[in-house]
Amino acid sequence: MSEPLVLGIETSCDETGVALVRGRELLVDQVASSMEEHARFGGIIPEVASRAHLEAMVPTIQSALAQADVDLSEVDAIAVTAGPGLVGPLTIGASAAKALAVGLGKPLYGVNHVIGHAAVDELVHGAFPERALALVVSGGHSSLLLVDDIASDVTELGQTLDDAAGEAFDKVGRLLGLPYPGGPHIDRLAREGDPEAIRFPRALTLPKDQAEHAYDFSFSGLKTAVARWVEARQDAGQDIPLHDVAASFAAAVADVLTVKTIRACERHDVDTLVIGGGFSANSQLREMAAARCAEAGITLRIPPIRYCTDNGAMIAALGSAVVRSGAPASDLRFGVDSSMP
Ligand code: KG4
Ligand code: ZN
Repeated sequence: MSEPLVLGIETSCDETGVALVRGRELLVDQVASSMEEHARFGGIIPEVASRAHLEAMVPTIQSALAQADVDLSEVDAIAVTAGPGLVGPLTIGASAAKALAVGLGKPLYGVNHVIGHAAVDELVHGAFPERALALVVSGGHSSLLLVDDIASDVTELGQTLDDAAGEAFDKVGRLLGLPYPGGPHIDRLAREGDPEAIRFPRALTLPKDQAEHAYDFSFSGLKTAVARWVEARQDAGQDIPLHDVAASFAAAVADVLTVKTIRACERHDVDTLVIGGGFSANSQLREMAAARCAEAGITLRIPPIRYCTDNGAMIAALGSAVVRSGAPASDLRFGVDSSMP
């Protein structure tokens, strides 16, 4: 008998994602985004995102089914993001998924969005080894996960104590006068700057941080350091060397992320690292991770960027792993959890 066909629905932020996965094979992945609307406000407006999900949900499901030439009745199980994320957007996706599950008489699995960012890599690079590490970095999260079994045994070793990596880029982008989201703009500027021009702080990397925060991140002090440096130059009537500021800031973020991640790999005896989340597009992180993983003998897996930003495939991939594990379906009364651990 063929593996179950799982429909995945993702609505934790501004992307309405719908995908179909059979086993570890992706049949279709459709995404509708409301980012253009949010860009006008310089940040995600939850109510605007919720309304956009409500409008996009049925057309996105219909177009995914049509593209895969699948009838809704062929779906064996449904997976939906139950958290973490924005409550309004999560509620739209969960409501749609519950209605489908009841209507079709099929099981529903509420799954964790952050773990989904790691799980999607199985669709691209195949099953995870017995033990892997995942660094999930985006505008909303910076988490280090120890993955013993993607369906049932994932431990969060650390996370950001304040801003996520992408969020820090977006905030520094704002203070440098770049359009929202600033991350890709800083990346572009940084490629032409000197990463050693300014020594910005690397938070939580000192020996004294090892006991409590060995695998946690903190980027808000770095953002403040950039702001102070820029203000001091402006007060002195000097020009801001945008490329060097961007390169030095990006280098500090990539340095902290990779140092801690590789240390975690070594301490947990892991030789496979997966990087997921929209921030994995960052050139400085990619270069540093590739070089340091090669040096440490760690296999680096980064899915193509369309599977790193929020999408339905990650939820269908995780749902498929959970279904295959034989875990019971979610109780249909489940609520969404904006800060799901
Ligand atoms: O995963 P994602 O699309 O949405 C969230 O769930 O947050 O990640 C988007 C975040 C934004 O903060 C964006 O500025 C950042 O990732 N980002 C980048 C790059 N591409 C996206 N930051 C730095 N360099 C990039 N190339
Ligand atoms: Zn995400």
